[in-house]
Amino acid sequence: MMKITLVGCGLVGGSWSLVFARAGFDVTLYDPSQASLDVALSFAKSSAPGLAKQDLLGGQSPEAVLARLKTTTNLADAVRDADHIQESAPERLPIKQALYKEMAPLAKADAVIASSTSGLPASSFTADIPGRERCVVAHPINPPHLIPLVEIVPAPWTAPSVIERTDALMRQIGQVPIRLGREINGFIVNRLQGAMLGEAFRLVEDGICSAADLDAAVTDGLGLRWFFIGPFETIDLNAQGGVPDYCQKLGPMYYDVAKEQADPRRWSDALVAKVEAERRAKTPTDQLDARKAWRDRCLAALVRAKRAVLKENA
Ligand SMILES: NC(=O)c1ccc[n+]([C@@H]2O[C@H](COP(=O)([O-])OP(=O)(O)OC[C@H]3O[C@@H](n4cnc5c(N)ncnc54)[C@H](O)[C@@H]3O)[C@@H](O)[C@H]2O)c1
Repeated sequence: MMKITLVGCGLVGGSWSLVFARAGFDVTLYDPSQASLDVALSFAKSSAPGLAKQDLLGGQSPEAVLARLKTTTNLADAVRDADHIQESAPERLPIKQALYKEMAPLAKADAVIASSTSGLPASSFTADIPGRERCVVAHPINPPHLIPLVEIVPAPWTAPSVIERTDALMRQIGQVPIRLGREINGFIVNRLQGAMLGEAFRLVEDGICSAADLDAAVTDGLGLRWFFIGPFETIDLNAQGGVPDYCQKLGPMYYDVAKEQADPRRWSDALVAKVEAERRAKTPTDQLDARKAWRDRCLAALVRAKRAVLKENA
């Protein structure tokens, strides 16, 4: 059985622990902070019963899954025997650079070292380490124990076998890997999200709509479609003649809109304060943790429902 080590166990590392453990792997959680490890373990403990209730532990008991987790604050002990290292340290380049320099000689020569980074290219923190061909980005969408997509992004020197092994492992643990041909800022998901956020801030800044109505446009509009089909399949199904028909009818309109959107704007302090004020009126700061837990419960129920609906309609 492969040995899995998680390096950095904050928000994302804690969620990864559930993904690997429910897939049957023994998982070592490493973090320099004992407090972070305690929080990660208590997150896993408090989440597991809800996952079991939604049948998202593969029929296993929460206790059986949680028994596969062990923690350490010693990096050498954590990575020495690992076959797959999933790094989720803070998104700060100097931290990742120092960590990879320290970790690379401690890990096995044939281990895969995958980074959860949201946007840093692996080439920016693995260039000067021994065995850099072992390194790749495997970027999850938070929280990975509920959202399966993982973006696999190679550095120019990542070995093809490392990409294949990472892809295979992600599938084995129930995630959905997609592969990028080369490094690009923001990868795919954050480029898409960034395009939408840029437009969302523009619409609020120009007084076209409130932040709440903008959110409704997604939760009660686009988001419902996107739960089952992506933007290309959407346009394929929204015109009698499929993609070419849609593009012929609506391409000019989208081109005109794109010209209006072509000039990116910085998100000014005043604009950010306006959206923040609207958000805090709806969800006060002291209710944010409860709201995150609510989001995760809703996501778990939806993931279960999606499986059932797709099965019924196969
Ligand atoms: N939060 C998200 O939505 C999200 C989504 C996808 C990917 N990511 C990526 O995952 C990574 C972790 O993000 P997060 O939100 O979990 O951050 P976080 O701040 O919640 O957790 C980071 C953890 O790393 C630990 N740490 C500090 N220095 C370290 C070191 N030298 N070595 C190992 N661990 C160290 C911290 O103690 C902390 O527990 C980042 O690269 C981030 O871009 C985040």
